[in-house]
Amino acid sequence: MAEKNWYKNAVVYQLYPKSFYDSNGDGIGDIRGIIQKLDYIQSLGVTVIWLCPVYCSPMKDNGYDISDYYRIDPSFGNNDDLDELIELSRARGIGVVMDMVVNHCSDQHEWFQKAIADPEGPFADYFYIRKGQQSGPPNNWRCWFGGSAWEPIENTPYYYLHVFTKQQPDLNWENPKLREEIFRIMNFWLDKGVVGFRLDAITDLKKLPGLPSLPPDGEDGLAAVNRWTENVPGIGAFLSEMKERTYGRVNAMTVGEAGGVKAGELMDYISLDDGYFSMIFDFSISRVNVGFYWCDVLDWNTETLKQRLQQTVKQNGSLGWMGIVLENHDQPRCIDHFLPESGRNFYGASLLALMQLMRRGTPFVYQGQEIGMRNVAWADIQEYDDVSSHSQYQEAKRRGFSDAQAMAFIHSMSRDNSRTPFQWSSALSAGFTTGKPWLKANEQYAQINVEKQEQDQRSLLNWYRKLIKLRTSSPWTEVLIDGSEEYVYQEIPNLLAYVRELNGQKLFILCNFQDREQVLALGTFQTILADNYGRACLTDGQKITLRPYEAVLLA
Ligand code: GLC
Repeated sequence: MAEKNWYKNAVVYQLYPKSFYDSNGDGIGDIRGIIQKLDYIQSLGVTVIWLCPVYCSPMKDNGYDISDYYRIDPSFGNNDDLDELIELSRARGIGVVMDMVVNHCSDQHEWFQKAIADPEGPFADYFYIRKGQQSGPPNNWRCWFGGSAWEPIENTPYYYLHVFTKQQPDLNWENPKLREEIFRIMNFWLDKGVVGFRLDAITDLKKLPGLPSLPPDGEDGLAAVNRWTENVPGIGAFLSEMKERTYGRVNAMTVGEAGGVKAGELMDYISLDDGYFSMIFDFSISRVNVGFYWCDVLDWNTETLKQRLQQTVKQNGSLGWMGIVLENHDQPRCIDHFLPESGRNFYGASLLALMQLMRRGTPFVYQGQEIGMRNVAWADIQEYDDVSSHSQYQEAKRRGFSDAQAMAFIHSMSRDNSRTPFQWSSALSAGFTTGKPWLKANEQYAQINVEKQEQDQRSLLNWYRKLIKLRTSSPWTEVLIDGSEEYVYQEIPNLLAYVRELNGQKLFILCNFQDREQVLALGTFQTILADNYGRACLTDGQKITLRPYEAVLLA
């Protein structure tokens, strides 16, 4: 795997295999489906694909509960299919990144089955298994999806710990035997030729020593998950060892889903010299509108986005590197998330694309983002598959919100918003499957789909292609990869503007985040490289009048 830091030039396409393309009509997307769509993926110009988990799993959390790390789940195909995908992708210059979920496994994993069969035996130490107290669980820790983080082991005085659902027991990284098992798994996939990993919930690996109860922070008497597991001191030793024993050997690309990393620790994680990872995701603007509970609605506007992006840039300095995201399988669709009603159209969507794809860092485009897929709004909570939607709904009801209000929170934040079938065409079920899709397609598929946008030179899809190409193979590639990122015109409301600069070469990115015009002085920038209104040159000399949601790239 070539050059150090090769991932800086990558553009990543995130695949949620279950919803991408179904090759055998069972309603579930699969690896052969991805293989059949490689032409499309390549046409985007991306150089890496990240597959959300495809390992054997009872799918209580859609594959983030792994029961066999060495085998592909039959619903997705088999190991040979994956080998073929790796090979065919490589031939097209596209690397495959696997999702690695090593904070927890499935309760169906043989380690866990052995552990609960003998809670004092050797496998118990692969997990956090403790005796309960008279009054209940070993301590007062709350899990991510609400309620106690401890689950009783039937017919025993023991409990086990889980950060996420109770079907996802946490692995005990303090146990060297467990760590060896994990390193073996990671090396197995590296030897198969994957170019890297996305590391799930990676800052949860370490728990507060002694597993103490903490002062409660809610009426339930429990203590929030980030207080006892997110980035607990001492985690660095685990991460360094993992790097050294696995991906560090082969210069693979790694991206951490790393909540809770503080500014002072950031360089340990993402320094281009020797971070634990190649990068972590920049989630600074994700979920800008809600707190931990979706019913805790927060006030925000374009100024909030500007401030947070600038803050990230400042913290990264010249050595920090991040994964730049607008969407993923846990977030709502970006058009609905970041734009007011008046901008939920081609202009707003293409503006967000420019804002994202010109930034310093490795961009991640999530499947369907490139065609402007939108949120769904199903009437009944029972139609939702996502586990967190159900716990969030319960919380809203518990706080006294009406059903309609509770459903409005689900509509805006549910993880199913981004998990509906990919919209290939206007054929039944969006052309995703000939069978019954595991999750309903968004009913807008007749208007929003690949087939339609392929025929339109000025579609969002072609806009994404153009920007990706500018980034990976144009005279501007170098400045887009290595240039600094500086926010300018900060005092102008609803304008997000930044300059990329390297060795005197400069690019100017302008995003008019409003449904009104805005006049701006341009200084030395005179050449238009991309404009979502299709304008090719400046007619106003030193000035530009930006139209509603206009986005322009200038040199
Ligand atoms: C990560 C995944 C999410 C999953 C959780 C538990 O946050 O992105 O989908 O539910 O980890 O594995």
